[in-house]
Amino acid sequence: MTEAATRFVTPVTFQALTGEPVFVDQWDARIDDNMAHIALSRRADAMLVAPATADFLAKLAHGLADDLLATMCLARDCPLLAAPTMNRQMWLHPATQRNVAQLVADGVTILGPASGDQACGETGLGRMLEPLELVDELAAFFVPRTLAGRHVLLTAGPTYEPIDPVRGITNLSSGKMGFALARACSAAGAQVTLVAGPTALATPRGVQRVDVRTAQQMHDAVMAVLDAPPASGTLRPDVFIAVAAVADWRVANASERKLKKRSADDLPKLEFAQNPDILAAVARRADAPWCVGFAAESEDLEANGAAKRAAKGVPLLVANIGHATFGRDDNELLLIDERGSQPLPRADKAQLAQALVTEIARRLPPRRG
Ligand code: C5P
Repeated sequence: MTEAATRFVTPVTFQALTGEPVFVDQWDARIDDNMAHIALSRRADAMLVAPATADFLAKLAHGLADDLLATMCLARDCPLLAAPTMNRQMWLHPATQRNVAQLVADGVTILGPASGDQACGETGLGRMLEPLELVDELAAFFVPRTLAGRHVLLTAGPTYEPIDPVRGITNLSSGKMGFALARACSAAGAQVTLVAGPTALATPRGVQRVDVRTAQQMHDAVMAVLDAPPASGTLRPDVFIAVAAVADWRVANASERKLKKRSADDLPKLEFAQNPDILAAVARRADAPWCVGFAAESEDLEANGAAKRAAKGVPLLVANIGHATFGRDDNELLLIDERGSQPLPRADKAQLAQALVTEIARRLPPRRG
């Protein structure tokens, strides 16, 4: 912490919240050789200064070393990232912009700032990115850009098929795997469009999200993205990953009014209609992107997955045990392509998503046109 930072939050509070020692002083006696400015950064993979004030950015740009943090930044042997945080006028000031340009030229990665309400009561550019966005950015910093120049379209989450205005049929898919994949594709440098069924998950930073409820809406949203006329700055989707647990049927006789509870021998009679198969429909298109399907099975992943890959007509199918993954934070996958199968062992969904992105990037044909 800089001395200024301790005016906002005390080192004791930071220590208590993080469970980690907090250093403020370059002469801190806890470091054996009294060289905190060297010792503290040597085991780091990266340094992130968040929030980075206008004053601190100016110091960094000029190589000043008058406190522990500035000295550490100068003495580091790892990448440096900074999340600018200041009043909008301070951010727009030519001196700050000059310092930021110098830092970028020096190889520093600048994260943000965001625009919005400011502590001073003004509104504009200069807000620190949200802490979880910084975590995403930091993780993405280390990911090879294997999907740069690609546009990945994904579906995720469950769908919801109404019975009446207040009731419906859905499933236990949480959307976590699809959102983790969207995040991993974005970190790998892709432009990402995520068509999401009902879920409370936050949109990964940099991902374009389209919210839908029903399978039909999901189908229409996916086709709309594929049919959109080329616009400047957007690429035609060249990868489609169908992660959503799409309802197979919708209620054909859904009621516009809430169904009333009547006697036990007068129950509502629901009729079902088949939903469109989004993945199969995308894979059938003449301009089909490279398609990846998911299969939630209850047993015999390899045989069922291979059969589903053939039925859907997709180059890669990812099989998992449905009831062992829905809603959980971890999973294990079996990748099935034309050459056979390959397991991705049990791991956190974020790690699996990254491994899957590597496997997809490895198999992708070069981009057309
Ligand atoms: O046929 P099944 O539902 O098992 O296939 C699963 C795969 O197909 C998943 O990738 C899922 O997202 C996709 N799917 C779809 N539209 C449907 C049903 C499944 O895109 N109506």
